[in-house]
Amino acid sequence: MSHNKIAKKLQNIQPSAIRELLKHSKMDGVISLGGGIPDPELFDREGLQLAMENVLTHSWKDAFQYGLSEGNPALRAAICQLMSERAIHCEVDDVVVTSGSQQSLDILARALINPGDVVVVERPTYLAALQVMQLAEANLMSVGTDGDGMIVDELDALLKTVPVKVVYIVPTFGNPGGVTLSEPRRKQLVELSRRYDFVIIEDDPYGEINFTGTTFIPLRSWAEEMENSDRVIYTSTFSKILAPGARVGWLVLPDWLKRQVVNLKQATDLHTSSLSQSLTFHYLNSGRLTPQIALIRDAYKQKCRVLSQHLQHELGGYLTFHQPMGGMFLWAKFNHDMNTTQRLQKTLSHGVVYVPGEFFYCDEPDASTLRMSYVSTTEANLKEAVMRLKSALN
Ligand SMILES: Cc1ncc(COP(=O)(O)O)c(C=O)c1O
Repeated sequence: MSHNKIAKKLQNIQPSAIRELLKHSKMDGVISLGGGIPDPELFDREGLQLAMENVLTHSWKDAFQYGLSEGNPALRAAICQLMSERAIHCEVDDVVVTSGSQQSLDILARALINPGDVVVVERPTYLAALQVMQLAEANLMSVGTDGDGMIVDELDALLKTVPVKVVYIVPTFGNPGGVTLSEPRRKQLVELSRRYDFVIIEDDPYGEINFTGTTFIPLRSWAEEMENSDRVIYTSTFSKILAPGARVGWLVLPDWLKRQVVNLKQATDLHTSSLSQSLTFHYLNSGRLTPQIALIRDAYKQKCRVLSQHLQHELGGYLTFHQPMGGMFLWAKFNHDMNTTQRLQKTLSHGVVYVPGEFFYCDEPDASTLRMSYVSTTEANLKEAVMRLKSALN
């Protein structure tokens, strides 16, 4: 069958370079800082088992049945409660349950973007969001980031030159950069969305994995305060705080977008797995999520500390990084000319892998950057990984 039967927009899509590069990372003896996956040792197996027993005892008729495209109403009510703890006020009708934030992004891209529409992302940004936006044939542009997250002044300058439809941002403990948008920039961004009439997609998978005592108020919450909530679409997920295999995320939507999103959700998969939704509902109902988040937070904080201290101690002269305040990733940049993609073969032969940074850019890639995940590696292996990196650099 001929290649030209494939839809034009898919013909030039390449297999993920990262997957190719990292396929050796599961080899025996290799320490991987590459994957962005939660530590399975921290899954609340007992809590999930109790929740599953509740599903089978009390909710089995719903859990094995078709459901509403918007999602299970009891779960959506529980999500509203969770949202109020994040200073976001919404009603059950504003919430659509998705099969993870990834699906939220795909549905939003299809709901909002015409080919050629300008979508602005952070530089660097979440790789799979780039894929989604590319599939929607967006005209992707980027603005830089520093220790305070997206440089909103740079966005302001861009807005004066092109009409922007959407700004996609991971404002809190971002992937891959690990940076957090400062409060003044949050307000400035929300204000700009009003002035230039664009939509903000706020992707917040990591906000709860906070290593500090400071609360970072979501953009959607600032937008409420600034009477601009129509322009901020919020998505989050249970993947990082409960279990990614359940594939349960959600959207908080403005009225003007609800009908289209529900139609798209219906066309995509009718609804998110009833079983997963029921399991998540019973888990939330058990009251175990808060202590579970505390457990994850403490464990990741400690691992982050181990990795950053060792990096600073052993490789501080070679690379610089912002100390993450939360989340799952440490992003670093070599001070000298170093191509981290080319260097990966050598570090692999020394038994350690990371993700080269250049793949997280839609333009102006910086080949001297790399992303390291600290969450699913033991402390001893994190130390060993730094020593191996050091030997691979010499
Ligand atoms: C920034 C960001 N958004 C979305 C996702 C997708 O998460 P989910 O498992 O909810 O689809 C991830 C997962 O790594 C992520 O890092």
